[in-house]
Amino acid sequence: MASSFSKISASHCFWHVTFLSCIFWIAAYFHRAGFCFTSRSPRPDTLPADTCSGRYVYVHDLPSRFNSDILFDYHNVNISYTNMCRFISNAGLGPALNVSNIGVLSSSGWYATDPYALDLIFHNRMKRYECLTTNSSLASAIFVPFYAGLDFGRYQWDYNISVRDSLSLDLVNWLSSKPEWAPMGGRDHFMVAGRTTWDFRRFKDEDNLWGNKLLLLTHTMNMSTLVFESSPWDSNDFAIPYPTYFHPSCYSVLVSWQDKVRSSERQWLFSFAGAPRLNRKDSIRGEVIEQCRASAKCNLMECGSGLSECHSPGSVMSLFETTTFCLQPQGDTPTRRSVFDSMVAGCVPVFFHPRTAYDQYTWYLPREHDRYSVFIAEDEVRRGEVSIEEVLSGYSEEQVRAMRDEVVRLIPRLIYGDPRSRSVGFKDAFDVAVEGILQSVAKIRR
Ligand SMILES: *[C@@H]1O[C@H](CO)[C@@H](O)[C@H](O)[C@H]1NC(C)=O
Ligand SMILES: *[C@@H]1O[C@H](CO)[C@@H](O)[C@H](O)[C@H]1NC(C)=O
Ligand SMILES: *[C@@H]1O[C@H](CO)[C@@H](O)[C@H](O)[C@H]1NC(C)=O
Ligand SMILES: *[C@@H]1O[C@H](CO)[C@@H](O)[C@H](O)[C@H]1NC(C)=O
Ligand SMILES: *[C@@H]1O[C@H](CO)[C@@H](O)[C@H](O)[C@H]1NC(C)=O
Repeated sequence: MASSFSKISASHCFWHVTFLSCIFWIAAYFHRAGFCFTSRSPRPDTLPADTCSGRYVYVHDLPSRFNSDILFDYHNVNISYTNMCRFISNAGLGPALNVSNIGVLSSSGWYATDPYALDLIFHNRMKRYECLTTNSSLASAIFVPFYAGLDFGRYQWDYNISVRDSLSLDLVNWLSSKPEWAPMGGRDHFMVAGRTTWDFRRFKDEDNLWGNKLLLLTHTMNMSTLVFESSPWDSNDFAIPYPTYFHPSCYSVLVSWQDKVRSSERQWLFSFAGAPRLNRKDSIRGEVIEQCRASAKCNLMECGSGLSECHSPGSVMSLFETTTFCLQPQGDTPTRRSVFDSMVAGCVPVFFHPRTAYDQYTWYLPREHDRYSVFIAEDEVRRGEVSIEEVLSGYSEEQVRAMRDEVVRLIPRLIYGDPRSRSVGFKDAFDVAVEGILQSVAKIRR
């Protein structure tokens, strides 16, 4: 009895092992190829999925003039300086990139994403948030799906200030008439405005001044707004990442990309993609470009106005994937989309101003800045006191490896997963933002 049992068990074991290694091989194949092969992906670094307590979000059912009608406008009218009807495709991600033409990318998850589509991407992600409630008294925070960034873009260039401000004023009237406003005077409300905060802080009512006054209204002062770049003088906005081109729909697509950039060959010590700022006397971009051009170890991608390589996702990602350090000097404002594109490529960012990232993305980046980045003070570059090449050459191979590993570890929280995915299976920029808002509202409640 006992011996026949062990015989069965041994042969069972043989088949079991063969079967397992076969599964393992198939899984490894799909993993390398970057497919979604599992529906129940691990969710590392997240709260247990069974508890929504303290995480419920109520979403206001806004009239369509505050969101979908704005998209309709973009679709049907020619709007100056933009060709944004394309971001209506793929839930805001834009057209899928044909990755078979772009060898530097992984097999899926890549889109020609316009960063100004964030309003839409975030709203679509929220529709699949795992802790939504239709009972606002259970909610820890209340989301307002207003497309503030797109509303700005629609009216900024050809319209007077009463047109530019009209929907913002309309919004606060609508919100404050709702029963959900009263319990906290709107201090549990939050929204997304996919631009920098400066577009919403016009401080005087004059047509020739920039932007609208969305974030200066007494009601929105009580709310929290998520923007690409926050104001150092105000507490009603929080900075979240610019969207990149990468939006994996599941964990395995993310991991195969991380593996790829961890081991990609980086023949350039440093690189810069961008344009000089000739109209800004204090800009260091001229010096940065000059130093890059003069070094055999630097790869320069100069961006002119209009279409150039800088607007080709494949060229940009290829540059960052083959470079160890990516220079990120300020542009028109301190922050840049390029910070996120380069970090997604596993390139260690070099900052010249604390407001480019350290003072902005405090929910997203480690407090110990030298773990994942290099800082060179703007003033030293401006005065010609520092050779960027010399500073960067000073890092040992182990130091570089450690910084790059940290950058690659950060990738998931810096990107927006595919909003059409039921669950992307990792904690992404959206999850980090919601967590930040929930903590901030909880603090206000106490
Ligand atoms: C939009 O602009 C294009 C090219 O400038 C023009 O051909 C087209 O008629 C315009 N469409 C509308 C609706 O104004
Ligand atoms: C992608 O590019 C390949 C190679 O040029 C081509 O054969 C294929 O049809 C393209 N796919 C799409 C969806 O455009
Ligand atoms: C909403 O939640 C509150 C608090 O738990 C409860 O008293 C109320 O009955 C709920 N309302 C509905 C419509 O379920
Ligand atoms: C602003 O522009 C709109 C139409 O574009 C016009 O109807 C309105 O009278 C203008 N307002 C002022 C104050 O000029
Ligand atoms: C903002 O919040 C404070 C404190 O809750 C409240 O007294 C005030 O009325 C709110 N403002 C508006 C415009 O609701």
